[in-house]
Amino acid sequence: MIGVLVSGGGTNLQALLDAGLPVVAVASNRADAPALARAAHVPRAAFELATYPDRAARDAAMADWLREQGVELVVLAGYMHILTPAFLERFPNAVVNVHPSLLPDFPGAHAVEEQLAAGVAESGATVHLVDEGVDSGPVLAQERVPVLPGDTRETLHERIKAVEHRLLPEVVRELCAR
Ligand code: GAR
Repeated sequence: MIGVLVSGGGTNLQALLDAGLPVVAVASNRADAPALARAAHVPRAAFELATYPDRAARDAAMADWLREQGVELVVLAGYMHILTPAFLERFPNAVVNVHPSLLPDFPGAHAVEEQLAAGVAESGATVHLVDEGVDSGPVLAQERVPVLPGDTRETLHERIKAVEHRLLPEVVRELCAR
């Protein structure tokens, strides 16, 4: 049973849904995240930081809600907040993230822009287990894409996302089968 955390457009959430994976809950740090509209048929909830005394309290509430929905595996699909131990200790070794670079290179929220600025010839997509760091934790799968002359943030990100949309459901399916 999968819970998905989202902050943005939700194309990776869509890929998980399209793959027929058992998504039973979707949560966001933003009530206005467009991704939430993609999962109208499953329980959804927003856990905005402003509603809680601190990040740990928010994360504990979000983890408790996911557990109530029967979630066993959490997938971060464009979730742009760092998870605190209050969340991770409730899902030990059961949180995965997708990131638009060849980690450990270019972690963080601006990976695509930073790769273009650095002039790298290759980028890629990484799926990894989440720990308390920023886009750190053991890599589960990684695939390269070329950076092409004239690439913009949008064109490079689209090329990476095309890979993410295949790689993330593959890895999640394998984890569900364990
Ligand atoms: C994806 O490219 C994902 O790898 C990235 O945000 C995008 C979300 O797109 N995540 C990170 O940068 C995490 N550090 P989506 O909302 O369309 O799935």
